Amino acid sequence: MCGIVGYIGFREAFPVIIKGLQRLEYRGYDSAGVALMNGAMTIYKKAGKVSDLLNYIDGKPTNGTAGMGHTRWATHGAPNDKNAHPHTSNNGRLSIIHNGIIENYGPLKEELIKRGHEFHSDTDTEVLIHLIEDIQQKTGVSLEEAVRMALHEVIGAYAIVILSQDNPDELIAARKGSPMVIGVGEGEFFIASDATPIVEYTKNVIFLNDNELAIVHRDKLVVKTIENIEQTPYIQELEMKLEMIEKGGYEHFMLKEIYEQPRSIYDSMRGRIIAKDGFISLSGLNEYEEKFKNAERILIVACGTSWHAGLVAEYLIEDFARIPVEVEYASEFRYRNPIITEKDIVIAISQSGETADTLAAIELAKSKGATIFGICNVVGSSIPRVSHAGAYTHAGPEIGVASTKAFTAQVTILSLVALSLAQKKGTVSKTRLVELLTELEAIPGKVELALQSNEQIQVIADRFKDSRNALYLGRGYNFPVALEGALKLKEISYIHAEGYPAAEMKHGPIALIDEQMPVVVIATKGAILEKIISNIQEVKARQGVIIAIVTKGDTEVCKMADYVIEIPDTEEALVPLLATIPLQLLSYHIAIMRGCNVDQPRNLAKSVTVE
Ligand code: AGP
Repeated sequence: MCGIVGYIGFREAFPVIIKGLQRLEYRGYDSAGVALMNGAMTIYKKAGKVSDLLNYIDGKPTNGTAGMGHTRWATHGAPNDKNAHPHTSNNGRLSIIHNGIIENYGPLKEELIKRGHEFHSDTDTEVLIHLIEDIQQKTGVSLEEAVRMALHEVIGAYAIVILSQDNPDELIAARKGSPMVIGVGEGEFFIASDATPIVEYTKNVIFLNDNELAIVHRDKLVVKTIENIEQTPYIQELEMKLEMIEKGGYEHFMLKEIYEQPRSIYDSMRGRIIAKDGFISLSGLNEYEEKFKNAERILIVACGTSWHAGLVAEYLIEDFARIPVEVEYASEFRYRNPIITEKDIVIAISQSGETADTLAAIELAKSKGATIFGICNVVGSSIPRVSHAGAYTHAGPEIGVASTKAFTAQVTILSLVALSLAQKKGTVSKTRLVELLTELEAIPGKVELALQSNEQIQVIADRFKDSRNALYLGRGYNFPVALEGALKLKEISYIHAEGYPAAEMKHGPIALIDEQMPVVVIATKGAILEKIISNIQEVKARQGVIIAIVTKGDTEVCKMADYVIEIPDTEEALVPLLATIPLQLLSYHIAIMRGCNVDQPRNLAKSVTVE
């Protein structure tokens, strides 16, 4: 996905836009550009990061109190100067920035070429601004009307901002399927993909809805539907604070977010449980209590780390609430013609709330009558808006591309979902419920303890930073943790890593074991510890090197592992919340030692809002 920023008001637009792009750079960073209006429209754009754009602009004129900027994650067209946004119309008097994907750009482009339009990029976005220009020239309608007419011809997702040489005091914005927030200031307006570029200027925001346009002037904002029906915009007050999106003294957002987990896990359950009374309250769940109680199965759809949280939920919900659960990769689910009925509950898990595959899976399930329960971290994002009910994880903005605190917050919420369903179905006694909730309340403090292994983990990271491969093994509740640990390592250090159910290793992967292969084993106290000890011995017998995550006080695994990282004891079902902490730190330190950009890993984006 890409980041878009627009500004019109009394300030110099350039610094507002650049700082906004820097805050959005986690969304995509293969090229960037700005368009500024100061009587005449000036455009600068460059492959690379926002810092490369700044170096390119250095010393060039940047004045103007209206403008827009874009940081790109390429969908169509290589990351280079010509494909960077903004893109302009044939006559150069219109410019556009776009987050999303225009599926039918090919035939539109062919038709426009026949009409004499010349294109300078390989992007789908450039087609849209030429289409708007073509409609205006053919019909003589206003820019606003031409935008509306053009959007009726577009198939796909968009969050766009348009600047016109002929309308220098106006920005036109529109969205469908990609997020857009409008900040409402005094005599100024801000437009952005999310609230992070806006929050330092104003807390009053409007989350534009799908198929809406905003016509923005310094002193006036009008919101209309794509059918030209004026809407009364709903202005909300942001809870987000500036310091939440700053690094707060940490070298990287990822490290800050790893260390925020005691707080974010606490916040995800705050106001939702009274452990001593065995009380759980998830409003969204209560609203659909009968549906959940009578559900014959629960489907979980998600991607990436959120899918791993969903896998933990499968163990939790089946273990405690005895409801069958099926965890699906959203990208597979949406195309495999799944059997879905109105009896089905679908839990959609997403940090960003904008992941295209997860959104599409939701739409498919909704179309067949399923009830959607969304678990998201970004208030006002698309997935909560299309879900019947849900719960926000309240982990705070997660800027690092590698998801950390969002994962543990998701698992916390899913633990509450499982226990709440168990309570409603009577499959767990009150006494047991009080025990589990009391232990859940203790998790933030135990995460603090797990974080104290940081220096020891740095030493281990130094030992393995040059590995070419790694294997992560876990069983039961720790199998999803093994998958998540492997994903963390590969996505920020670029070391190939695989997560596996420990017992599966002997069905193939054991052929990979030698003294060059670090094997991370989550071997915490639990009913199947003896089994995982056997798996460790199988690895050792083949000269494998073992890094074991163990329960504090372990006396068995530590005799056979090469490296041992202890985590506090807890309920077996809650171990994922603790076992993932050392794996996050291990991947972070290895990536740093390898000189990788942990907050903006190559080829990745924070939220994949395209297929
Ligand atoms: C996780 O570290 C990755 N950044 C990625 O797998 C992510 O979890 C996935 O793209 C899903 O994103 P979402 O939670 O915002 O839907």
